[in-house]
Amino acid sequence: MKIVVINGPNLNLLGIREPHIYGTLTLKDIETQLQQKFSQVAFEFFQSNCEGDLVTALQNAATAHGIVLNAGAYTHTSYAIRDAIAAITTPVIEVHLSNTHAREGFRHISVIAPVCKGIIAGFGAASYELAVWWFINYSKQSV
Ligand code: DQA
Repeated sequence: MKIVVINGPNLNLLGIREPHIYGTLTLKDIETQLQQKFSQVAFEFFQSNCEGDLVTALQNAATAHGIVLNAGAYTHTSYAIRDAIAAITTPVIEVHLSNTHAREGFRHISVIAPVCKGIIAGFGAASYELAVWWFINYSKQSV
């Protein structure tokens, strides 16, 4: 099973970025833990601060079994990313480290959520693990 994990803007700063909100793990730590916990999965990891690069990464992941996407602040604004998700048949799970609904009002809106399979938010690095867990256990039956 191939799963592509895509992270958007400022997530390259995990570990030093607002650790009281996002935790102390780096993005590399999160990726390493995913590969260790789910050794049966062929992961590809991608991060960019640029909206268009994230669109291209989604298009390139169209043959994967699943995509785990933390679009960062583009979650709340990017119709281009929403259209890219809608354009591919690979299911995308939207993830967030923080509980965006417990934060500022502008984070309560996700413009990508309507075209995602589901959303997992508020569990720190475990948000990514829960998304992978769903792909492994359920996606073949229900997508
Ligand atoms: C985030 C939440 C977003 O609102 C924020 O812009 C991020 C990180 C999260 O993982 O909690 O960059 O996606």
